[in-house]
Formats: sequence, C-alpha cells, structure tokens
Amino acid sequence: MRMVDLIEKKRDGHSLSKEEINFIIEGYTNGTILDYQMSSLAMAIYFQGMNDEESTNLSLAMLNSGDVMDLSSIKGIKVDKHSTGGVGDKTSLVLGPLVASLGVKVAKMSGRGLGHTGGTLDKLESIKGFNINQNMDSFKEIVNKTGIAIVGQTGNLCPADKKLYALRDVTGTVPSIPLIASSIMSKKLASGADAICLDVKVGSGAFMKTIEEGRKLANLMVNIGKNCGRKMTAILTDMDEPLGFAIGNSLEVIEAINTLKGHGPQDLTDLCVEIGSYLALDANVCQTREEACLKLRENLQNGKAFNKFMEMVIAQGGDVNYVMDINNFAKASEVIPVCAQETGYIAYIDALSIGLAAMLLGAGRETKDDKIDMAVGIVLDKKIGDYVNKGDVVCYIHTNGLRTEEAISKVCDAFKYTKEKTEKKLILDVIR
Ligand code: URA
Repeated sequence: MRMVDLIEKKRDGHSLSKEEINFIIEGYTNGTILDYQMSSLAMAIYFQGMNDEESTNLSLAMLNSGDVMDLSSIKGIKVDKHSTGGVGDKTSLVLGPLVASLGVKVAKMSGRGLGHTGGTLDKLESIKGFNINQNMDSFKEIVNKTGIAIVGQTGNLCPADKKLYALRDVTGTVPSIPLIASSIMSKKLASGADAICLDVKVGSGAFMKTIEEGRKLANLMVNIGKNCGRKMTAILTDMDEPLGFAIGNSLEVIEAINTLKGHGPQDLTDLCVEIGSYLALDANVCQTREEACLKLRENLQNGKAFNKFMEMVIAQGGDVNYVMDINNFAKASEVIPVCAQETGYIAYIDALSIGLAAMLLGAGRETKDDKIDMAVGIVLDKKIGDYVNKGDVVCYIHTNGLRTEEAISKVCDAFKYTKEKTEKKLILDVIR
C-alpha cells in the first residue's frame, strides 16, 4: 500500500477500507508516514467526509495505537461521560458522585484544560491534597470500594490521536465531524467504560455552532460506540451562556459542592439529573427514566450525593475540611462588580468571551506549562431571561490583579440585552 494512493482515493471521494485505515494509523504512529502526507489526508477527509464504517475503523485504529484499559476487575457496569467542552462546565464533579450514590460504578479519566479554565483535574486539585495521579491498580481499587474515582490518564492512551490532533490543530482540520468523532470516541473506548454519555455542546462558543451540526456529530459518536458494543447516549445542550453561575477553578468546585447539597443552579442540576438518568438506566440500577430522575433528585436533597463526593475526596487523599467548609478554599484578593450597560432582558451571555476573560485573570492556561490561579474567575449574578436596569450588577470578577481591565471589558461585551424576554432551553435533544 502507498499513502499517496490513499490520499488520492479520499481526495476523489471514495471510502477507505479497514485495512487501509489501519495502514495509515500504524504508519503515522510509528513515523513511516510523515506529517505532510497526514495533513493532506486530514484535509481530504475535511472536504470529503467519512461514512460511519470508516469513522468506526478510524476510532478503532487510534484506540489500538496504545494501551486499552481493562476495567473487568471492577464489579458491575462501569459508566463514563464526556463533554465537548463548555464554559463553567463542572458537570463531572456533580454527576460522578450523584450517579455513584445510586450504586453505579464511575471510573473516570479526565483531562487538564487548555484554554478558558482548568479541566476537571485542575478543579479537583483546588482541594488541598487531592491526588489525581493514581496507578491503574489503585484507580480500580478506589472505584470498587467507593464507587467512584476521577483520575488523570494512566498509561499511553491513543498516541495516534495525540499526534493527529496536534497536527489538525495547525493545519486547519480540527472542525471535521468524522475526525472529531473518531478522536473523542477512540479515547472514550480506550478508557474502558461499558456505558457512555456524551454532552455535545451547541452554540457560538462550542465546536458545533448549530443544532444540525451537533446532531450529526452526536449521531456519529453514538453509532461508533454502539458498533463497538457500548451503551451510548448523546445529549445536545445549549451553550448560549455558561453553565451555572461560576467560572473558575475553586469557584466551580464550590458551586459543585452546593449542587451536591441540593442548592445548585437549576441548569446545572437539571443537566446532571438528565445525564445521570440515562447512565442509571444503562447501568440497570433503575427500570424507568422517571424512577431514575426521582432517585437522583432525592439523593441531591438527602445528602447521599454529597457524602459520595466526600468519600471520593477522602479516597483520593484530599482534605475533607475543604468540602465541609468552603471558606477553606483560596480566595481572590479583590471582587469587582460588573454592571449592566443597558436596561432590558438578558438575551445572551457569550460563553467564549466569559471563558477568555477567566483565562486572562489566570483561571486557565494559554500554553500547557502556564500555572493556574485556582481562586480567580467570574461569578454571574444574572442569566438569560433576567431583567436588569442599566447599572445593576450582572456579575462579579474575582481577581488577584492580573489583566483585570481587559477581563472586565471582555465580560461587558459578552452580555447582550433585548426588549423582549428570551426563552431558553438547555437540553435540545437526546440521541440513543
Ligand atoms: N476533542 C477531542 O478530543 N478531539 C477533537 O478532535 C475535538 C475535541
């Protein structure tokens, strides 16, 4: 086989066979296929697309390029979730303990964030002592014992995807639905869970700008997962504003703790119950979705979800005093109110601008070696649909003095106002 023939085949709109895709991914991983040929193929895929079978084969080839987690020693059905990236998205911190409180096994490998705010791992590290670096044996032991662990990646998962994603990043080929789907699914499949729920964000700040694009990506990922024998759900959610009120690492952990105690923001609570209900069904701990939703909401009120979070923190070496008393989290030196520049209903809060403002304050990384400031960020005081008079506070900036003026200006630009009240729906569609 010659790579040039395969590039031409895809360029001319034909599909690639399993053997051809394996040849490409093996060659690219071991260095016999070079970046310039792979970029050309990625661009051909960007324009010509791939069918479901090709996308499944690409996911499997990337999955097989590295270690594959064997979670069989964990008893019961293991679940996982993935979000395509939201601002203020602390869902995993709430959802994990919440579904684990129903007896579902949550074995979650998460990532660090590059961009707006830290990832789930960075957020958890705002709890003193919390150890995300568990080896495979202790990871499985914690899940078996407490029902949940959230850890950093162990082993060498999907090296082909790592290499290809970095190449796509600099060749204008990230926004290709088959490439995004195979990239995400190769990693999810390699992580070993039996049931997976994907939260596909739709909106100006998300990868998928329209519901139609979001549906295509969600359908493809669900099909890839099912073709590989996993139980799959994808939930399409709106990202026309950040999720919840808090954006920034410890600010988000505090909001997650409040949500686990039953007094979190409605959008975050609803999303966690929605995702949790499908995972509870797929893990066979509930018979109907109604039953699952009811039990999940009960566990947010009766302390079971919060207790499960505490168990996880203890099992992973975190200081439980942080969870018991949120005043222990580091605080920013200054909290500055930002006021509405118009009178009217809030129509839109550009999540991307809010995320970038948080990053300017130090909550996220511009490059992978940047150090994160856990305490800084933004706390919204108003959400879409709220009425404000010019001069009312719409949010608060928590800052330690870094690029504060730039952040305030970005935040002001993020808020859009209208005369008519906008109705907003968080969950746009569910695909199973
Ligand atoms: N996230 C991934 O892991 N891969 C993509 O291609 C896009 C988002």
